Amino acid sequence: MMAQSMPRPALRPFLPADVPMLAAIFVAAIQELTGDDYSEAQQEAWAEVAEDEAAFGKKLAGELTLIATVQNSPVGFASLRGNDQIGMLYVHPSVAGQGVGAMLCDALEKLAGARGAKNLSVDASDNALDFFKKRGYVAQQRNSVTVNGEWLANTTMQKTLGDGEAGGQQ
Ligand SMILES: CC(C)(COP(=O)(O)OP(=O)(O)OC[C@H]1O[C@@H](n2cnc3c(N)ncnc32)[C@H](O)[C@@H]1OP(=O)(O)O)[C@@H](O)C(=O)NCCC(=O)NCCS
Repeated sequence: MMAQSMPRPALRPFLPADVPMLAAIFVAAIQELTGDDYSEAQQEAWAEVAEDEAAFGKKLAGELTLIATVQNSPVGFASLRGNDQIGMLYVHPSVAGQGVGAMLCDALEKLAGARGAKNLSVDASDNALDFFKKRGYVAQQRNSVTVNGEWLANTTMQKTLGDGEAGGQQ
C-alpha cells in the first residue's frame, strides 16, 4: 500500500540480499529523475552499470552502504567511499522529494565525521547539483567520465564538515 503521506523512513546497513532491489532503484532513479540533464543514450549507459548484479553488489559491499526503508522495503540507498567521498546516492522516484535523499546524506556526513574526515566530496550528477548545493556543498570542478561508451558530465562538490558531523568528539 502506498500511503498518502509517507511514514518516516528507517535506515539500516546494506545486506547482500538487497542487491536486486537496489539495482531496480538505481535504474528507476536514473530513468525517471535525470532526463532533464542527460540524453536517453546517456541514461541507458548509466543504468547499465547495474545490469551485472554480481559486479554491482561487489561495488555496494566494497563501500559503506546504507539503505533507507519504508515499511521494511528499500526506497533508497547511499554509500560512503573511504572516509570522505559519497559513492552513490539514489532514491526511488515514487518517494522522491520527501526527504529520503536528505536523510541518507545526513547519515553519510555523520559517518564521514566519525571516520575523522574534515570534508566530504561527491561527483554530483547535473540533476543532483541543487540538492547538494542546498546542503552546503560547493562546486570544485567539472568532469567528463565515460560510462559504457557514453560521455557523462558531473561536478566534484565538497562540503566542510562542522562540529555537528564530528561524532561528538569536539
Ligand atoms: C538526488 C536525489 C538522491 C535526491 O533525493 P530526494 O529524496 O528526492 O531528495 P530530498 O527529498 O531529500 O530533497 C532534499 C532537498 O533537495 C531538494 N531537491 C531534491 N532533488 C532536487 C532536484 N533534482 N533539484 C532541485 N532540488 C532538489 C528538495 O526540494 C529538498 O529541498 P527542501 O529541503 O527545501 O525540501 C534523487 O533525486 C535521485 O536519486 N536522483 C537520481 C540519481 C542521482 O542523480 N543521484 C546522485 C548521484 S551523485
